[in-house]
Amino acid sequence: MTATPDAKPLKGLFIRTYGCQMNVYDSERIRDVLKPLGYAPVEAPEGADLVVINTCHIREKATEKVYSELGKLKQMKLASGGKMTIAVAGCVAQAEGAEIIRRQPAVDLVLGPQAYHKLPEMIARASRAVGDRLETGFDTVEKFDALPKTREPDGPAAFVSVQEGCDKFCTFCVVPYTRGAEISRNVDDIVSEIRDLASKGVREVTLLGQNVNAFHGPAPRLEGGADWTLGQLVRHIARIGGIERIRYTTSHPRDMDDDLIAAHGDTPAMMPFLHLPVQSGSDRILKAMNRGHTADQYRDIIDRVRKARPDIAIASDFIVGFPGESDADFEATMQLVRDIGFAVAYSFKYSSRPGTPAAEMHGHLSEAVKDERLQALQSLLRDQQTAFNQAQIGKTLPVLVTGKGRNPGQMHGRSPYLQALHFDGTEALINTLVDVKIVSASLNSITGEHVRAREPAA
Ligand code: SAH
Ligand code: SF4
Ligand code: F3S
Repeated sequence: MTATPDAKPLKGLFIRTYGCQMNVYDSERIRDVLKPLGYAPVEAPEGADLVVINTCHIREKATEKVYSELGKLKQMKLASGGKMTIAVAGCVAQAEGAEIIRRQPAVDLVLGPQAYHKLPEMIARASRAVGDRLETGFDTVEKFDALPKTREPDGPAAFVSVQEGCDKFCTFCVVPYTRGAEISRNVDDIVSEIRDLASKGVREVTLLGQNVNAFHGPAPRLEGGADWTLGQLVRHIARIGGIERIRYTTSHPRDMDDDLIAAHGDTPAMMPFLHLPVQSGSDRILKAMNRGHTADQYRDIIDRVRKARPDIAIASDFIVGFPGESDADFEATMQLVRDIGFAVAYSFKYSSRPGTPAAEMHGHLSEAVKDERLQALQSLLRDQQTAFNQAQIGKTLPVLVTGKGRNPGQMHGRSPYLQALHFDGTEALINTLVDVKIVSASLNSITGEHVRAREPAA
């Protein structure tokens, strides 16, 4: 192939992503924003022209990682003769941008989660060594408006941000401070982004938001300007040609409305999987966390969801060792887990975050107590996850084939319940839906036999 005379030389871009799916989405969009400037992704930071670290502030450990990573990058920058540009993006950048610049002078740019559309302008400023190195404004609407309208999907499943920020102010959590106030994206923009993805072969979309079920997006062209709920949005997306699977994450129990629950039962594209974090099974602790619901209200929501869609897989998040958590409070969490039965769950030791109300509370617990509780909870959750996986043995499930497996002749895909699984098959199946019979399952691995291709949806 001959290069066109006006082709810009490619510059190497390396992005490292920490934290939640919103950061994964943001990293993809950072790549899109930088493409017109001639940046192309490379596999490793060594030798890259631009390295972006997309950071997470949620727990102390996540934040610490950033500084150790920056230390390593500084060495690489020196080795490159200063040619490498280092940018820190995401939630640590938002929370302690000035501190990052002070602690690690090798950093050229710091930008918060709502500012990455300004990267091209910031890179230009950095190359001329003029102007501010820090952008941590909160203009989410401006960001979404400024993003490129088309995307290059990585495979048959894609994330789409529909809502950002959080107004819930759980007392342990930094997200309302790092991501700002809750804002929903415009329905037209979401729909055109998904249409574009569908035209490029995407079959499954996961709608993202810190509180995605609080979605209330303006729909100027579609419905006289009235805000849409998440239930309305998923029903609409289900009608987009090519989109066969819809998921959303992460939801809050307080925003689980009847229409959204009903959609799980009456909209075939809605996947039978719900990630609904509960954090604790003790009403006293839920109150101190400012979650705004009781353990029984959570049980009731799960009952109603299961009535709408009996096979739904329930996922959750837990925090153990919140300040003041007694043995009885912890036992209430264990009881809630035994009552519900989770397909998968993420559990964390409480981490005190500067500036949050819980950091100032009495009754902080020792690491030893937190460790012991985490182990007990995780052991119960592992048993439930194994049981859920093994319950699929003998069933034939529709599987979206996402790529090649580790061994030759093996394919990799995801079940409706978001389980990752392997089966023997050919590469021609990648990006399609196939029926797979589950033959074995353990905690983290599921194996199946390819039965047949599925007819594409009408
Ligand atoms: N918006 C989502 C979750 C955001 S953070 C929700 O409201 O559920 C993801 C998870 O990290 C939380 O569900 C919680 O379990 C955990 N988490 C948040 N802050 C934490 C902290 N200070 N210490 C330990 N875990 C925390
Ligand atoms: Fe954090 Fe609570 Fe908001 Fe979730 S709902 S992002 S845990 S403040
Ligand atoms: Fe972390 Fe920010 Fe997500 S703090 S969990 S990357 S919203």
